[in-house]
Amino acid sequence: MKPIYVTEPSLPPLEEFLPYLQQIWDSKQLTNGGPFHQQLEQALCDYLGVQHISLFTNATVALITALQALRITGEVITTPYSFVATAHSLLWTGVKPVFVDVDPVTLNLDPANIEAAITPQTTAIMPVHCYGHPCDVERIQQIADTYGLKVIYDAAHAFGVETATGSILNHGDLSVLSFHATKVFNTFEGGAIICPDAKTKRRIDHLKNFGFVDEVTVVAPGINGKMSEFNAALGLAQLKEIESAIGKRQQIDARYRAAFADVAGIHCVPGAGELVANYAYFPIRVQPGYPISRDALYQKLRDQDIYGRRYFYPLISDFPMYRGLPSAAPALLPRASLASSQVICLPIYPTLTEEQQDRIIAIVRED
Ligand SMILES: Cc1ncc(COP(=O)(O)O)c(C=O)c1O
Repeated sequence: MKPIYVTEPSLPPLEEFLPYLQQIWDSKQLTNGGPFHQQLEQALCDYLGVQHISLFTNATVALITALQALRITGEVITTPYSFVATAHSLLWTGVKPVFVDVDPVTLNLDPANIEAAITPQTTAIMPVHCYGHPCDVERIQQIADTYGLKVIYDAAHAFGVETATGSILNHGDLSVLSFHATKVFNTFEGGAIICPDAKTKRRIDHLKNFGFVDEVTVVAPGINGKMSEFNAALGLAQLKEIESAIGKRQQIDARYRAAFADVAGIHCVPGAGELVANYAYFPIRVQPGYPISRDALYQKLRDQDIYGRRYFYPLISDFPMYRGLPSAAPALLPRASLASSQVICLPIYPTLTEEQQDRIIAIVRED
């Protein structure tokens, strides 16, 4: 039987992509803000309901550029319960990450813990919409306004997510999306910064092109973060299928939730008030009452060629380059530590069949 991984990238039918390739081959315009790059920026603004987007090679470079664009220095308050790139972007900018604990239910940065972590060196907050579940954006903004802090959302998981006020990407000063192969919307590799005004987008566009403003003017030590025409073309083709892809994810999410509703010790992580979800991940928590441990269940699935992932284990704060920080002490992060010891993300992607899902369900249910 075919192994089942936590995700399988979505791809458009090859014949639909070939005309884009033909155009690239004809025009010889491969990168540097070509026509597909421009079209994808506009198409994503329209689809996501946001004002300005700047496309990137990946979300990690986009996060670093977002920090540079806002001239973030000193300390930034962030979550330990995320993918390492969140905190790595801070170290690459020469900024000290300050970890605070998460909400016990949503597993997003808990605003109640932010104020106690603010020092005179704090310049920003970097929360993560973990699993595409929205952070408490109102309370985070209130705190940021009170203390004069910037907010940069790591929205790598949050493509297409909406709350009552529209796109979740319209909150904070900047938001960063990932279009990595594992994401709901992928361009093989890719990412983007969402920003509210044209002036900031201009600065970001300079920064992602080495700081060039024109042929002879360089205004900042920028980086090469430009998305190529190949990736942008793929994004345009992917966008045509995105609604149906998210719809299939929704069905898989609903089947898992129904199947595990009566299983003692299996807790499906709920959404966090989104009106439009993207079903990017299916995290379960293996808790007391379940007959075997998280790691035993993880291994049992692997033994049957089903590769869930323990997102997010270890915590970022447990990795060697972070664990010496005062804020990384596990005793200060009890909820994140507990979640990290309990979570398994189960396979969810549009092409997962009902039979495959039934195999996964049967193992977790111990049928
Ligand atoms: C929360 C989070 N932030 C950042 C990244 C980095 O994204 P990229 O792989 O596009 O650099 C990822 C995943 O890859 C992620 O899950």
